Amino acid sequence: MAYKTREWRNAMRVTVDYNYMMEKSLGDKGVTDAELRAIKGKAEQAFEYVASNRGKDELFMGWTELPYNQDEIVADILATAKQIRKKFKNFVVLGIGGSALGPIMVFNALKHLHYNELPNKKRGGPRFYVEDNVDPVRMQALLDIIDPAETCFNVISKSGATSETMAQYLIIADALEKRGLSLPEHMIFTTDASRGNLIKIDEKYGGKFKKYVLPDGVGGRFSELCPVGLLPAAVLGIDIKGMLAGAAYMDGVCNKPNVSKNPALACAALQYITALQGKNINVLMPYSDNLKLMADWYCQLWAESLGKAVDYAGNTVNVGTTPVKSLGVTDQHSQVQLYIEGPYDKVITFISVGKYACESVIAHGCEDIPDVGFLGGHTMEELIQAENKATAYALMRAGRMNYTINLPEVNAFTLGQLMFLFELQTAYTGAMLNINTFNQPGVENGKKATFALLGKKGYEGQKKEMDSAPALEDKYVV
Ligand code: PA5
Repeated sequence: MAYKTREWRNAMRVTVDYNYMMEKSLGDKGVTDAELRAIKGKAEQAFEYVASNRGKDELFMGWTELPYNQDEIVADILATAKQIRKKFKNFVVLGIGGSALGPIMVFNALKHLHYNELPNKKRGGPRFYVEDNVDPVRMQALLDIIDPAETCFNVISKSGATSETMAQYLIIADALEKRGLSLPEHMIFTTDASRGNLIKIDEKYGGKFKKYVLPDGVGGRFSELCPVGLLPAAVLGIDIKGMLAGAAYMDGVCNKPNVSKNPALACAALQYITALQGKNINVLMPYSDNLKLMADWYCQLWAESLGKAVDYAGNTVNVGTTPVKSLGVTDQHSQVQLYIEGPYDKVITFISVGKYACESVIAHGCEDIPDVGFLGGHTMEELIQAENKATAYALMRAGRMNYTINLPEVNAFTLGQLMFLFELQTAYTGAMLNINTFNQPGVENGKKATFALLGKKGYEGQKKEMDSAPALEDKYVV
C-alpha cells in the first residue's frame, strides 16, 4: 500500500541544488558543463553497474532491495517492539561501526533531542542507549544508570567476531547471570542467518534467543534499513514503514542514468570530478541538530566504502576523499573560517531543512542596541536558515565549491530518502572509481592485530610479526 498521498510524498521530496559547484557561480573555480558532459559515459556505466547488480548477495548489493522485501520482517519487528516497550525501561544497543551508527543517527534525527531525560509519560517508550566503544568508563557509566533486570539488550553483529561488541556482550551476559536473570529474556541478537558466534551462543541456549537476520548481501554500513536499524527504531516508536517508503521513493527518483535527473548520480559525478581536481576533503554540514549524527553515519559510509588501495584491475590507486563532519551553525564559529580562506581542497555539502519540527520566536528587547535589537520578532528558524544561506553564499563568493541537499522537513520519510540517496551516491562513486565499495580490508587488518595483541589462538604469526617490528625509541617520546 502506498505511503500517504502522492501530493504529500512529492511535497516531501529531497532535492539537491548544485548551482554553487558550477562555473556560472564560481567562475574558473567551478565545474563546467563540459566537464560534466565528459564523464557522462562513466556516470551512465556507474548507474548501469548498480542497476544491473541490484540485490546480488555475492556483490553485497542486497541493500538495494531492503525497501521492498521486508514486509514480514517489519510486521515481526513491530510486534516485538510493542512487547519491549511494555516490558522494559531501557533498550541498549551493543554494536559498533555499521551496527551502531545507523541506530544512533535515526534516534537523534527523529526523537526528542533530550529523549532520555523526558518524564516517562512524555517519552512513551524505554530509554535508549548505544554502546559503540570499549571505553571502560563508558561501560561503567551505563551500568551505573541502568538496572539490567529492566533492560533489553540488542546485540548487533554480523560476524559475532567483533572484539568490541563481543566484549560488551560478555560483560552484560555476566551482569545478567550474576543477578539470576535469563539471557534470552533480556537479549535479542541481530546477526548473520546461519554463521557467526551469536548463532553458536544461541545454540548453547537451545535456540531461545529472539534473533533477527542481517542479510547476507547487506554490509554493516548499508544495513540501517534492515533489522539492524529497524528494530531499535521501532522500539523508539519511529515510523519504520515511513523510512522504508522514503528509501523506495528516492530509489524511484534516482532511476535515471542522467546526472541532470538523478540526484545521487549528480552528487557522485561532482564528487568524482572534484576528487580528480585534488579536492580531497568532503565536508557534510547539516543545519539541524537532529541531523548532526547523520554526518557521523555518512562519514563511515563514505570512508569505509571508498578509501581503497587497489581497483578491480589490480592497480594501486589509494583513492577516497576524506569525509569531515560539521554542524551548522555551530561550526560557523569553528571551521568555516578555514573553509572560506584555507586551501581549495574541499567540497562542502550542506543539508538544509525547509520546516523545523518546532518554532521559537525571538522576543523583542534591547531595541537601543542595534547589534541585538534587530533579532527581535524573527524566529530561530528564520535565523538558522538565513545563516545557512549566508554561509553557502559566502563560500560561493570566495570561490569555494558547495552544494545543498534540501529536506522539506526532518521526518521518517525524508530520512529514508536521505539515507538511500547517500547509499546510491556512494555506490555510484565506487563504480566510477572501479573499486570494491563493499569490502573493508583495512578495518579487517586492525581487527586481526587486536586479536594478536590479546593472544587469540591462530594469530601467533601476526603476533610474531608485530613483535619483530622496529623497536620504539625513547628519543621520539617527548
Ligand atoms: O560497515 C561495516 O561492515 C563495518 O563497520 C561493520 O559494521 C563493523 O566492523 C562491525 O562488524 P560486525 O557487524 O560484524 O560486528
